[in-house]
Amino acid sequence: MVRIPLLVAAVATLRPFGRAVRPKSAELDLQPDHVLLAQQFQRLTPRCQEQLEGLQRDLMVACQLRESRGHDCNKIVGNIFSGWARPRFFETLAASDKEAMLWAGMWDGAGSEPGRTTKQALFDFADSVDADTVHPSSKLGKMVADHGDLEACNKDPAVYEAFTDSSDNKGLIPNFWNQASKVFVKGMANKKQVSVVIVVNKDLNPQAERSFQKSVLYNYELPELAREVNWSFEDGDPWHPQVVVVDLKGTCDEMLKTMKERIEHTVLNEFWVQKWLKKKPLRCLPCTAPCMLDENFAEKVKKEFNRKWYHFW
Ligand SMILES: *[C@@H]1O[C@H](CO)[C@@H](O)[C@H](O)[C@H]1NC(C)=O
Repeated sequence: MVRIPLLVAAVATLRPFGRAVRPKSAELDLQPDHVLLAQQFQRLTPRCQEQLEGLQRDLMVACQLRESRGHDCNKIVGNIFSGWARPRFFETLAASDKEAMLWAGMWDGAGSEPGRTTKQALFDFADSVDADTVHPSSKLGKMVADHGDLEACNKDPAVYEAFTDSSDNKGLIPNFWNQASKVFVKGMANKKQVSVVIVVNKDLNPQAERSFQKSVLYNYELPELAREVNWSFEDGDPWHPQVVVVDLKGTCDEMLKTMKERIEHTVLNEFWVQKWLKKKPLRCLPCTAPCMLDENFAEKVKKEFNRKWYHFW
């Protein structure tokens, strides 16, 4: 495979750019940001750097396949990691055929409970409710999974350092997840998905090691869901998905309260979002051990969907 010389190219043009000389318009010259981006990659711990560079390489390949000629994929992919933009090719990578499902806190390995909290249990459950885990079922989700879900980066402080003075820049990992969540949730909104299943196995104590408040779901996906619902009112065809949460820790009341606050806070209690929450209040089914994510449980969840059927007579 061709090694994409993004970093090499960027580092080769390294110059002592001060903040004062950054161009005002994003269109004028993106190069200084990409020098800073390359420098930031160099600050990562080796394992995290390997995962992020692997993802970056895959995105470059996808960009070169999908973007029309003449586009500079170095810049385009760089913009994702800088928190600046979501290119079109990136959106197509997040597409899923079935309804998309969100999740947090499933893992394989030590301490994970087979049939309940493993990724395999999650994928089987997604099949049973006829949904897709966009991550990793979509191409983008698979790319992330191929690079260890970027887990080596979770404890690397350098991924949370903003490396330009743009307010959209929150560090490499937040930038990436922010953009990825946007395209995942945008895909659901574009399809006007009637239900959204969210499987969660996280601790509601913010200080806990595996706290809900540190998850991609809490930080990026829920806010994006709120924004998409809010925006959907503008085009006269509002998106009113029924959210059904499956809480593997059995903390439904507190979980729904936390999610609702997160959603309301993101869109500052916008009237239309309030209306959606009133019409389709978030629902939650607890599934504490020995409850399994099996066919029986899937049937219970499907009953909560409240699907609307078309009538022909
Ligand atoms: C909600 O949507 C409206 C447009 O319908 C927009 O003006 C407003 O800024 C949005 N609110 C938020 C918080 O995104």
